Amino acid sequence: MANDSPVRRLTVRDIARAKGGEPIVSLTAYTAPVARIADEACDFVLVGDSLGMVLYGMESTVGVTVDMMIAHGRAVVRATRRACIVVDMPFGSYEQSPAQAFGTAARIVAETGCAAVKLEGGQEMAATIDFLTARGVPVLGHVGLMPQSVNAAGFQVQGKTEESARRIRADARAVEAAGAFGIVIENTVELLSRTLTQELTVPTIGIGASPACDGQILVTEDIVGLAGAFTPRFVKRYAELGDGLAGAVRDYAADVRARRFPGPEHIANPAVPQAKSKA
Ligand code: KIV
Repeated sequence: MANDSPVRRLTVRDIARAKGGEPIVSLTAYTAPVARIADEACDFVLVGDSLGMVLYGMESTVGVTVDMMIAHGRAVVRATRRACIVVDMPFGSYEQSPAQAFGTAARIVAETGCAAVKLEGGQEMAATIDFLTARGVPVLGHVGLMPQSVNAAGFQVQGKTEESARRIRADARAVEAAGAFGIVIENTVELLSRTLTQELTVPTIGIGASPACDGQILVTEDIVGLAGAFTPRFVKRYAELGDGLAGAVRDYAADVRARRFPGPEHIANPAVPQAKSKA
């Protein structure tokens, strides 16, 4: 979905209209520097609750709070101009009732300026998605592997059995019928995601799903080697920034210990002439 205009922000309608066309490109961002870079190449940027694990070192996403999502969502909206920004609703902030979900979503949209929220769930969330979309909150659905349900379901590939595939299919259809403008399909068997992409009228955004999906999303830190030792099978590494950062930190520490940093060019009016620094 190439767009030559650098200033018009893409909307959820642009994303919905991209169904079946050029693949929709998406990455996560949680901070202004990463968001600024993602904005150059992405159609939509997700402020995912994966930030709990990637930024805060949590074991899962279930400890993420609405306040965390709002703080990071604000930073990402501020740093971007073109991409459509979607913010995740964290675990426990929407499942109780449609009214609870609306209260959370209204706060997230009003306090961050994002275009839409994402929530995990299928048939059981359809009434909530309907409630939100009928009240002006665009929703991106999320089916298949749902990390907020890790305590009940684990992290394994979904849709392997006939029963599981049938359930995910019914989930995706219910989420679409409830008014979601798109659906993230995470870590499912390929044929299921391919079939869903053909059947649904809204775009499917795959993560560990299928190249046939209408778009793809990954966690940015995963593709650049900044997310720790474990890399999911469905991630492709495009850079090794972790190694680069570790090297920079080691060089800095060595310079400080050897008094090579700061050099005269790094300080104002040095009182004593100093040795020339490497930098
Ligand atoms: O939280 C997240 O980052 C996500 C995507 C990876 C789909 O839900």
